[in-house]
Amino acid sequence: MTAMDDYKRNLNKIILTYRPRNILELGVEAGISTEVFLSHSEIKVTSIDIMDCPAAKGKVLALKANDRWKFLIGDVADLVPKFQLHSFDMVFMDITYYDATGGMGSKGNYEHEFKCLSRDLKRCFNLLPTRGVLVANDYIRQVGERAGHRAAINDFAIELGQPFTVFPSRGGMAVFIK
Ligand SMILES: C[S@@+](CC[C@H](N)C(=O)[O-])C[C@H]1O[C@@H](n2cnc3c(N)ncnc32)[C@H](O)[C@@H]1O
Repeated sequence: MTAMDDYKRNLNKIILTYRPRNILELGVEAGISTEVFLSHSEIKVTSIDIMDCPAAKGKVLALKANDRWKFLIGDVADLVPKFQLHSFDMVFMDITYYDATGGMGSKGNYEHEFKCLSRDLKRCFNLLPTRGVLVANDYIRQVGERAGHRAAINDFAIELGQPFTVFPSRGGMAVFIK
Protein backbone atom coordinates (compact mmCIF):
# COMPACT_ATOMS: atom_id res chain seq x y z
CA MET A 1 0.00 0.00 0.00
CA THR A 2 1.38 3.44 -0.89
CA ALA A 3 1.54 6.29 1.63
CA MET A 4 -1.25 8.02 -0.29
CA ASP A 5 -3.46 4.90 -0.19
CA ASP A 6 -2.86 4.72 3.56
CA TYR A 7 -3.83 8.39 3.91
CA LYS A 8 -7.05 7.89 1.96
CA ARG A 9 -7.87 4.77 3.98
CA ASN A 10 -7.46 6.71 7.23
CA LEU A 11 -9.48 9.66 5.97
CA ASN A 12 -12.25 7.23 5.00
CA LYS A 13 -12.02 5.67 8.43
CA ILE A 14 -12.63 9.11 9.98
CA ILE A 15 -15.62 9.63 7.67
CA LEU A 16 -17.11 6.22 8.45
CA THR A 17 -16.59 6.68 12.19
CA TYR A 18 -18.08 10.16 12.56
CA ARG A 19 -20.46 10.23 9.57
CA PRO A 20 -20.29 13.98 8.80
CA ARG A 21 -22.76 15.40 6.28
CA ASN A 22 -21.40 18.94 5.81
CA ILE A 23 -17.65 19.37 5.68
CA LEU A 24 -15.66 22.61 5.58
CA GLU A 25 -12.27 21.94 3.97
CA LEU A 26 -9.42 24.45 4.34
CA GLY A 27 -6.66 23.88 1.75
CA VAL A 28 -7.57 22.03 -1.46
CA GLU A 29 -4.61 21.94 -3.88
CA ALA A 30 -4.99 18.79 -6.05
CA GLY A 31 -8.19 17.75 -4.27
CA ILE A 32 -6.97 14.44 -2.85
CA SER A 33 -9.03 14.86 0.31
CA THR A 34 -11.92 16.58 -1.50
CA GLU A 35 -12.25 13.48 -3.67
CA VAL A 36 -12.32 11.17 -0.64
CA PHE A 37 -15.07 13.25 1.00
CA LEU A 38 -17.20 13.54 -2.13
CA SER A 39 -16.93 9.84 -2.93
CA HIS A 40 -19.52 9.51 -0.13
CA SER A 41 -22.75 10.51 -1.84
CA GLU A 42 -24.40 11.85 1.33
CA ILE A 43 -21.60 14.40 1.97
CA LYS A 44 -21.55 18.07 0.92
CA VAL A 45 -18.24 19.93 0.97
CA THR A 46 -17.37 23.63 1.08
CA SER A 47 -13.69 24.08 0.23
CA ILE A 48 -11.44 27.14 0.53
CA ASP A 49 -8.08 27.74 -1.10
CA ILE A 50 -6.16 30.91 -1.78
CA MET A 51 -5.33 29.60 -5.26
CA ASP A 52 -7.52 28.22 -8.01
CA CYS A 53 -7.37 24.39 -7.91
CA PRO A 54 -7.99 23.01 -11.41
CA ALA A 55 -6.93 19.45 -10.56
CA ALA A 56 -9.49 19.35 -7.73
CA LYS A 57 -12.15 20.72 -10.07
CA GLY A 58 -11.35 17.88 -12.50
CA LYS A 59 -11.73 15.27 -9.77
CA VAL A 60 -15.10 16.67 -8.65
CA LEU A 61 -16.31 16.73 -12.26
CA ALA A 62 -15.25 13.10 -12.75
CA LEU A 63 -17.22 12.16 -9.63
CA LYS A 64 -20.25 14.09 -10.98
CA ALA A 65 -20.37 15.79 -7.57
CA ASN A 66 -20.53 19.46 -8.59
CA ASP A 67 -23.92 19.89 -6.94
CA ARG A 68 -22.40 18.83 -3.59
CA TRP A 69 -19.27 21.00 -3.79
CA LYS A 70 -18.81 24.72 -3.21
CA PHE A 71 -15.34 26.07 -3.92
CA LEU A 72 -14.33 29.48 -2.57
CA ILE A 73 -11.09 31.16 -3.59
CA GLY A 74 -9.69 33.37 -0.83
CA ASP A 75 -7.69 33.57 2.37
CA VAL A 76 -9.01 31.40 5.23
CA ALA A 77 -8.26 34.31 7.57
CA ASP A 78 -10.97 36.34 5.80
CA LEU A 79 -13.46 33.62 4.89
CA VAL A 80 -13.73 31.40 7.99
CA PRO A 81 -15.21 34.18 10.21
CA LYS A 82 -18.01 34.67 7.65
CA PHE A 83 -19.64 31.26 8.20
CA GLN A 84 -22.62 30.85 10.50
CA LEU A 85 -22.17 28.78 13.65
CA HIS A 86 -23.05 25.11 13.22
CA SER A 87 -23.05 25.25 9.40
CA PHE A 88 -20.67 22.27 9.32
CA ASP A 89 -20.35 19.07 11.34
CA MET A 90 -16.71 18.55 10.36
CA VAL A 91 -13.83 20.91 9.55
CA PHE A 92 -10.77 19.53 7.78
CA MET A 93 -7.69 21.76 8.03
CA ASP A 94 -4.77 21.24 5.67
CA ILE A 95 -3.28 24.67 4.97
CA THR A 96 0.29 25.64 4.12
CA TYR A 97 -0.30 29.27 5.17
CA TYR A 98 1.42 31.18 2.42
CA ASP A 99 3.07 34.37 3.48
CA ALA A 100 5.29 37.00 1.98
CA THR A 101 8.34 34.71 2.24
CA GLY A 102 7.60 32.70 -0.87
CA GLY A 103 5.68 30.28 -3.01
CA MET A 104 6.28 27.16 -0.93
CA GLY A 105 4.13 28.53 1.84
CA SER A 106 5.20 28.66 5.44
CA LYS A 107 7.26 25.47 5.54
CA GLY A 108 9.72 25.99 8.35
CA ASN A 109 8.34 29.41 9.29
CA TYR A 110 7.50 28.36 12.82
CA GLU A 111 6.05 31.63 14.13
CA HIS A 112 3.84 32.15 11.10
CA GLU A 113 2.51 28.57 11.13
CA PHE A 114 1.91 28.67 14.86
CA LYS A 115 0.09 32.01 14.80
CA CYS A 116 -2.14 31.19 11.82
CA LEU A 117 -3.04 27.65 12.86
CA SER A 118 -3.71 28.67 16.49
CA ARG A 119 -6.13 31.32 15.23
CA ASP A 120 -7.91 28.92 12.84
CA LEU A 121 -8.15 25.99 15.27
CA LYS A 122 -10.11 28.23 17.64
CA ARG A 123 -12.27 29.73 14.92
CA CYS A 124 -13.08 26.36 13.35
CA PHE A 125 -13.79 24.61 16.64
CA ASN A 126 -16.18 27.45 17.55
CA LEU A 127 -18.06 26.89 14.28
CA LEU A 128 -18.86 23.27 15.15
CA PRO A 129 -21.90 21.98 17.02
CA THR A 130 -21.48 19.60 19.98
CA ARG A 131 -20.00 16.31 18.71
CA GLY A 132 -18.65 18.10 15.63
CA VAL A 133 -15.27 16.87 14.37
CA LEU A 134 -12.15 18.96 13.82
CA VAL A 135 -9.33 17.36 11.83
CA ALA A 136 -5.99 19.18 11.63
CA ASN A 137 -3.41 17.67 9.28
CA ASP A 138 0.37 17.86 9.61
CA TYR A 139 0.68 17.00 13.27
CA ILE A 140 3.62 14.67 12.69
CA ARG A 141 5.21 15.97 9.51
CA GLN A 142 9.00 15.99 9.35
CA VAL A 143 10.78 18.04 11.97
CA GLY A 144 11.37 21.60 10.81
CA GLU A 145 8.65 21.42 8.20
CA ARG A 146 5.47 21.86 10.21
CA ALA A 147 6.80 22.27 13.72
CA GLY A 148 4.54 25.30 14.16
CA HIS A 149 1.49 23.16 13.32
CA ARG A 150 2.41 20.56 15.89
CA ALA A 151 2.96 23.17 18.60
CA ALA A 152 -0.31 24.94 17.77
CA ILE A 153 -2.25 21.66 17.98
CA ASN A 154 -0.61 20.74 21.30
CA ASP A 155 -1.36 24.16 22.81
CA PHE A 156 -4.93 24.05 21.53
CA ALA A 157 -5.48 20.66 23.22
CA ILE A 158 -4.09 22.01 26.49
CA GLU A 159 -6.33 25.07 26.29
CA LEU A 160 -9.37 22.88 25.60
CA GLY A 161 -8.32 20.47 28.32
CA GLN A 162 -9.14 17.66 25.98
CA PRO A 163 -7.21 14.80 24.34
CA PHE A 164 -7.12 14.14 20.60
CA THR A 165 -6.50 11.13 18.37
CA VAL A 166 -3.74 11.07 15.75
CA PHE A 167 -4.06 9.10 12.53
CA PRO A 168 -0.40 8.72 11.59
CA SER A 169 -0.54 8.83 7.80
CA ARG A 170 0.63 11.53 5.38
CA GLY A 171 1.12 14.62 7.59
CA GLY A 172 -0.57 12.99 10.58
CA MET A 173 -4.19 13.93 11.22
CA ALA A 174 -5.12 15.18 14.70
CA VAL A 175 -8.81 14.62 15.42
CA PHE A 176 -10.74 16.57 18.08
CA ILE A 177 -14.37 15.95 18.99
CA LYS A 178 -16.34 18.90 20.37
C1 LIG B 1 -1.22 20.85 1.54
S1 LIG B 1 -2.16 21.75 0.40
C2 LIG B 1 -3.76 21.06 0.58
C3 LIG B 1 -3.82 19.60 0.17
C4 LIG B 1 -5.22 19.03 0.11
N1 LIG B 1 -5.92 19.15 1.38
C5 LIG B 1 -5.18 17.58 -0.31
O1 LIG B 1 -5.53 16.71 0.50
O2 LIG B 1 -4.78 17.32 -1.44
C6 LIG B 1 -2.29 23.29 1.19
C7 LIG B 1 -3.11 24.33 0.46
O3 LIG B 1 -3.24 25.46 1.33
C8 LIG B 1 -3.47 26.59 0.49
N2 LIG B 1 -3.27 27.82 1.27
C9 LIG B 1 -2.11 28.33 1.75
N3 LIG B 1 -2.33 29.44 2.46
C10 LIG B 1 -3.68 29.66 2.43
C11 LIG B 1 -4.52 30.66 2.98
N4 LIG B 1 -4.03 31.64 3.72
N5 LIG B 1 -5.86 30.58 2.74
C12 LIG B 1 -6.36 29.57 1.98
N6 LIG B 1 -5.60 28.59 1.44
C13 LIG B 1 -4.28 28.63 1.66
C14 LIG B 1 -2.48 26.39 -0.63
O4 LIG B 1 -2.83 27.12 -1.78
C15 LIG B 1 -2.50 24.86 -0.83
O5 LIG B 1 -3.30 24.51 -1.92
